[in-house]
Amino acid sequence: MFQAETLDHVAFPVRDLPRSERFYLETVGLTFMTQRKNADGSPRHTYMKAGENIVGLTLPGVAVPASASGAPRYAIGLPNVDQFDAAVKRIQASGVKCFDVESHGADSPFVTAFQFIDPDDNQIELCVRRQPLAETDGVSHVIFETGNLARSIKFYTEGLGLKLVGEVRGETLFEFQNGQMLGVKEVKELAERTRKKGRACHVAFNVSQEDYDVMLERIPKLEGKSLGDFRATDGLRPDGERSIYFFDPDTNYLQITALGDKSGGMISDEEKWKLTQENRQKAGRGISSFDKGVKIQK
Ligand SMILES: [Fe+2]
Repeated sequence: MFQAETLDHVAFPVRDLPRSERFYLETVGLTFMTQRKNADGSPRHTYMKAGENIVGLTLPGVAVPASASGAPRYAIGLPNVDQFDAAVKRIQASGVKCFDVESHGADSPFVTAFQFIDPDDNQIELCVRRQPLAETDGVSHVIFETGNLARSIKFYTEGLGLKLVGEVRGETLFEFQNGQMLGVKEVKELAERTRKKGRACHVAFNVSQEDYDVMLERIPKLEGKSLGDFRATDGLRPDGERSIYFFDPDTNYLQITALGDKSGGMISDEEKWKLTQENRQKAGRGISSFDKGVKIQK
């Protein structure tokens, strides 16, 4: 079956890492995984976990207001209404901007949902799904803006093989093999939040090795743009693993990965920067000031 398998990880921009770690750990209720460093040892991003999905809180962030469209938006699925209600109460009490709790009808994939804006102006959602996902799939869905819905539907159904689910809240939803979803919301003009993403902020999908080849061919034909795989040129991919970063037709920053037989696990920051520096030297390049950890002016 030609269809992207899962939504694996998301990464969005934050400006104050300790503040975000506390917010996502204590208020939202995600699990802390690790904080990753730049080459100079300064903080780069923190990986939190929702189930087994990584939620990346990524410096240096952007000074851009929340979008009016509600996208880009990252949604965490909770296993039941009790846990959902408890999380909603904590978030409401935290003082961030909250929208009303929504109750959905029987034709919606959601039982209930709640949107809020995090301390860095990211749109975030909590939901309870009508058909629960596996416990490992903590990210329920992501929503992106599109300037052209028909083009977007073609891109996601033909380019990534996602299954069209239908429209909920004015957003067109598509499904991965495991039931996680991606949605698009049509807007007259893309918000600054869509255009200015923040360094290394992207959303990643897992696909089969077989589908990967087809997607590589189709993405540019359907007005996406492949950006290659800088992790491979840096020598950071385990054998057999293939991946590209790419833009959808609206410049939403995405990644597809076809895992190899062996899962590499996460290498240490020291090992990562050693390999990166060696491989970039071979290519006659150094590492950027962003990678070194030199503070970037926003
Ligand atoms: Fe990634």
